[in-house]
Amino acid sequence: MKFKIDNSETEVIFSTDIIDQLENRRTVYIVDSRVNELFPHLFRAVKDQSKILVFEASEQSKNLESLQQIYHFLKEKEVTRNDLIVGIGGGITTDIVSFAASTYKRGCRLILIPTTLLGMIDAAIGGKTGINFGSVKNGIGSFFPAEKVFIDTDFLHSQAEEDFKTGFVEIIKMSFLPHSKLSEMLISKMDIREIIEEAIRTKFAFCENDLHDRNSRRLLNLGHTFGHVLEAVSNYEIPHGKAVAIGIRAAAKFSRKYDFISEHVFKQIIERLDMHELPENFDNRYMTRLQQEGEAILKQDKKADENINLVLFNNRQELFIHRTDKSRHVIKILEEFADV
Ligand SMILES: NC(=O)c1ccc[n+]([C@@H]2O[C@H](COP(=O)([O-])OP(=O)(O)OC[C@H]3O[C@@H](n4cnc5c(N)ncnc54)[C@H](O)[C@@H]3O)[C@@H](O)[C@H]2O)c1
Repeated sequence: MKFKIDNSETEVIFSTDIIDQLENRRTVYIVDSRVNELFPHLFRAVKDQSKILVFEASEQSKNLESLQQIYHFLKEKEVTRNDLIVGIGGGITTDIVSFAASTYKRGCRLILIPTTLLGMIDAAIGGKTGINFGSVKNGIGSFFPAEKVFIDTDFLHSQAEEDFKTGFVEIIKMSFLPHSKLSEMLISKMDIREIIEEAIRTKFAFCENDLHDRNSRRLLNLGHTFGHVLEAVSNYEIPHGKAVAIGIRAAAKFSRKYDFISEHVFKQIIERLDMHELPENFDNRYMTRLQQEGEAILKQDKKADENINLVLFNNRQELFIHRTDKSRHVIKILEEFADV
């Protein structure tokens, strides 16, 4: 499958034994250490093993220091702009490798091999790259789509259940986007490869004319503004997938409260979320911080002015961007999801 995104193109290829196909004198690899451990035969075709940099992926290591290590590695391997940088791992790895590739020598060739569900359908797709900067998640980054993304669903067998669920929540989120076939596909329980393919198509449809996240792409943030507050007040103890799932419920509730949807449509949306057993509540122990700091966190997220952009539902179960200054109400709605 080939997708245009602004002036570039990304080819998505489902395949196994990917490294065997890519290996070439001018290719270097940066791999998530866990993946490297779990798949010892991954690099069997690579004669010069010094071309492989093993990266310990965590949100703490997705930083300037690791980026510098990657630059040193690229320099040591005398990588030029025509050489191929291959990033293999979850979203943390593909984000930092993509950022390194987009900036080293003002941009090198980039191929990604995502190894998590979230990576396959989201992080490796659409060209957003980044590292964390202090406490600001993805505070530094660029837009740099990979020329190819290889998907091998065998990687998913070893993924931790919680991480798999995070990817799944993003798929459910995408099922609410216009023209996506995901909603029917999820009901008929099609196989994971077909679902991944459709999720990738859906994501590209929203990025292809909006690489820089100014228009259609913002609908992909459904559940994220609400969810991010929960992640932040819990010091990221509430996993991203769970926070987004509750965030989608909160978006539905906010839409109902301000009459963008009827009670009937509200119930239909909630039924869809329940059908896939998406989380409903967060632990009450985060409530005090939510009440005290929630609004401040929302304000940090605001872009140029006082308004927050929320992705909400209308009566046709379509999504739209709603600009509002009602940050107190956003927090109030989130409070209703605390476990009692
Ligand atoms: N660029 C984007 O558009 C975009 C979109 C969504 C998320 N992200 C970023 O992605 C990151 C989260 O990514 P993620 O959820 O893919 O996870 P991750 O990179 O955090 O990986 C999760 C854990 O799984 C391990 N792992 C990776 N592949 C594995 C496998 N096949 N089997 C077993 N373990 C494996 C990793 O070592 C890590 O410990 C965040 O930093 C987020 O900001 C980026």
